[in-house]
Amino acid sequence: MKTRITELFGIKYPVICGGMMWLCKPELCAAISNAGGLGNITAGNYNSGEELRMAIRQAKQLTDKPFGINITMLPSFRITPEIYDDWFRVCCEEQVAAIEVSGAPAKKYIPMVREAGVKIMHKVGSVRHAVNIEKMGYDAVLAAGIEEGGHPLNDDVTTMVLTPRIAESIDIPVISTGGIADGRGLAAALALGAEGVMMATRFIATTECLVHPRIWEEMIGRQEMDTTLICKTVGLQGRALKNQLVDEILAVEEKGGTLNDLMPLLTGKRSEAAWENGDVDSAALMVGQSIGLIQDVVSCQKLLDTMVADAEAIFRKNAAR
Ligand SMILES: Cc1cc2nc3c(=O)[nH]c(=O)nc-3n(C[C@H](O)[C@H](O)[C@H](O)COP(=O)(O)O)c2cc1C
Repeated sequence: MKTRITELFGIKYPVICGGMMWLCKPELCAAISNAGGLGNITAGNYNSGEELRMAIRQAKQLTDKPFGINITMLPSFRITPEIYDDWFRVCCEEQVAAIEVSGAPAKKYIPMVREAGVKIMHKVGSVRHAVNIEKMGYDAVLAAGIEEGGHPLNDDVTTMVLTPRIAESIDIPVISTGGIADGRGLAAALALGAEGVMMATRFIATTECLVHPRIWEEMIGRQEMDTTLICKTVGLQGRALKNQLVDEILAVEEKGGTLNDLMPLLTGKRSEAAWENGDVDSAALMVGQSIGLIQDVVSCQKLLDTMVADAEAIFRKNAAR
């Protein structure tokens, strides 16, 4: 399956893993890249450029295929401007295939990234942001609908509408993300004008994702209505799995609580621990509505092979109608 995205990143399948705080580490990254997709290491897991460099080198030991680095440019107490500088510099020095940016645009880094031959894409939730990103010189845009796990834009536009709207508004390739977990989603995204898909939630239910087995049970057992938007009232909208802690967060928001009131409930330490120990009710687990499409835990290889074969079968079936 060749598209402008497989060409851009030098990958077999037009399937990319999105950044996932605490989960996108070298092992999962390499498994996805070895399976023909574009794996991801999330820079936010590391506290310095050198820590990120070690993770990149670990992934390079596990795969000789291209992979990307997620850099999330959201307000943070932990990540200083110097750390952002170091992350971008290390990505260039290590010649990673791609950088996936979310949050604020990485305008000041683009000349350095381009000179290093590293491809750069940005995750957006609106046409206006996509147009802006293209003007800045990015290589590709990710159209992220409100269904996605993580932090969808508060324009609240679905992937189904956002993908074709962005595809008709810019010339650089578009990758669809949010709500995609199988070959049907891949076929739909390509039909809507995207040249590839990004998934995150689906990759949690793979044998190479280092989470507690109770998390896998949850990924299979929960349905599409089991996520909700949190932190809308404090301007930091996120989509998370409904659970005890998320109920507490929503209760604080309902009483007019501030970001300061919410911070103890949102700490990264909680999520990091919950993924590891399987205590599903103790953290806001930022998963997408695509959780409803997950029925099994499989290897990344099986997931990607099946997904692409299913998408191709859909196109063949439709062509024969
Ligand atoms: C557990 C989890 C953590 C995430 N963390 C980040 C992150 O740190 N930075 C980011 O840009 N996106 C993050 N995302 C969003 C994903 O990269 C991706 O855009 C989104 O999940 C796609 O939708 P899907 O979950 O339906 O596949 C996260 C998603 C999940 C599921």
